[in-house]
Amino acid sequence: MSQPSCVVHHEPESLRQACNDARAKGLRVGLVPTMGALHAGHAALVSEAHRRCGFVAATVFVNPTQFGPNEDFAKYPRTLDRDVALCAEAGACCVFAPPVEAMYPPGEATRVRVSGLTEVLCGASRPGHFDGVATIVTKLFALAGPCTAVFGRKDYQQLKVIERLVRDLLLPVEVVGHPIVREPDGLAMSSRNRYLSDAEHARALSLSAGLSDAVHAFERGERRVGVLRGIVRSRMEPAVDSIDYVELAHADTVQPHGDEETLGARALLAVAAKVGPARLIDNVVLGEDPAPKVEEAR
Ligand code: PAJ
Repeated sequence: MSQPSCVVHHEPESLRQACNDARAKGLRVGLVPTMGALHAGHAALVSEAHRRCGFVAATVFVNPTQFGPNEDFAKYPRTLDRDVALCAEAGACCVFAPPVEAMYPPGEATRVRVSGLTEVLCGASRPGHFDGVATIVTKLFALAGPCTAVFGRKDYQQLKVIERLVRDLLLPVEVVGHPIVREPDGLAMSSRNRYLSDAEHARALSLSAGLSDAVHAFERGERRVGVLRGIVRSRMEPAVDSIDYVELAHADTVQPHGDEETLGARALLAVAAKVGPARLIDNVVLGEDPAPKVEEAR
């Protein structure tokens, strides 16, 4: 494939101008927000945006406001040159990689908060995380004015938060949720996978293996929340360093179900765990997604 040119913007105004110019030419603007350290999962989002829009902007910004004080902001991998090449290959017309001060000018005092969806699951263990996400995504939408923005279902709760944000703020943006892209062995691709040693990678496969077991049980008719959670926990517990959560939740509101409840036709099964230095998340929507294909022997 020929390598199309891909302009890198560092200034917010230059991204805004590029998107204005594209619109003036009658092109639909597609946006793919990322924090960089890109992999094939991110590339799939860019390709999806490219399929839908004549002008695609990918953003690479490690957003400080979504990291907690003891999280990995400082050591989050930064690989801009490789990221730009991957975006260009996948069909992006430009990459926006601003400095922190450009997105958070001195004295800034505004946060965007989506209530209800953000207190559970990852929001419970990462207080303020989704305020940071909602704030930066609102700013990126304001700069680019996209018709379409593509997000991964890997961060399922984040996707639901952004869908709600767009609805509540009446933003004219179509939000597209792209399926999770996995490694050949089943591990959900993540920028944080590069923190894992081979042995830790092998242990991390217990997340997708647990989800896969639960999908099969669901397909056989199991609907008891406590039993399904137990199936997943029993896979993960011996392998991971600590489980943050294993929850069955409403697929739209992400509110967790109690163990004594019985599921209907569709439910989110979401997991988060620490393996070595990495906090990993994964999910499936039971009744909708196929079982992740898992190959545990490496
Ligand atoms: P980041 O973790 O870089 O992810 C950027 C986008 O890629 C998100 O929409 C995420 O869901 C998607 N993604 C990551 N891994 C994926 C996979 N294996 N399959 C499919 N999609 C995947 O999410 C963020 O950045 C930030 O919170 C951001 C939205 C950019 C705001 O700062």
